[in-house]
Amino acid sequence: MVKLSICIGSACHLRGAHGVLSAFNALIDKYQVQSNVDLEGSFCQGKCTEGVVIKIDDEVITNVTKDKVYDIFMEKILGR
Ligand code: FES
Repeated sequence: MVKLSICIGSACHLRGAHGVLSAFNALIDKYQVQSNVDLEGSFCQGKCTEGVVIKIDDEVITNVTKDKVYDIFMEKILGR
C-alpha cells in the first residue's frame, strides 16, 4: 500500500491542489490501483511557497503541478 497525501491547505489550493488531486484520482481509476493507494488530503505541510506539496510514503515532493502528476504516478506509484 502506497500512502499518497496531497496538501489541501490554502496556499496549495491556490497553486492548483485540486487539479493535482483530480489528476491522481483519474490515474488511480485508469490503472485500477485503488486497493494499493491510500489517497488523502493533508493540512498545510509548511512549504507553502513550494506548493503544491505532496507526500508519497515518507517522501515529500514539492512544486507539483497537474502536468507532472503522470510522471510522478508512473515512477513513484506504479513503479514500486
Ligand atoms: S498550504 Fe500546502 S504547504 Fe502550506
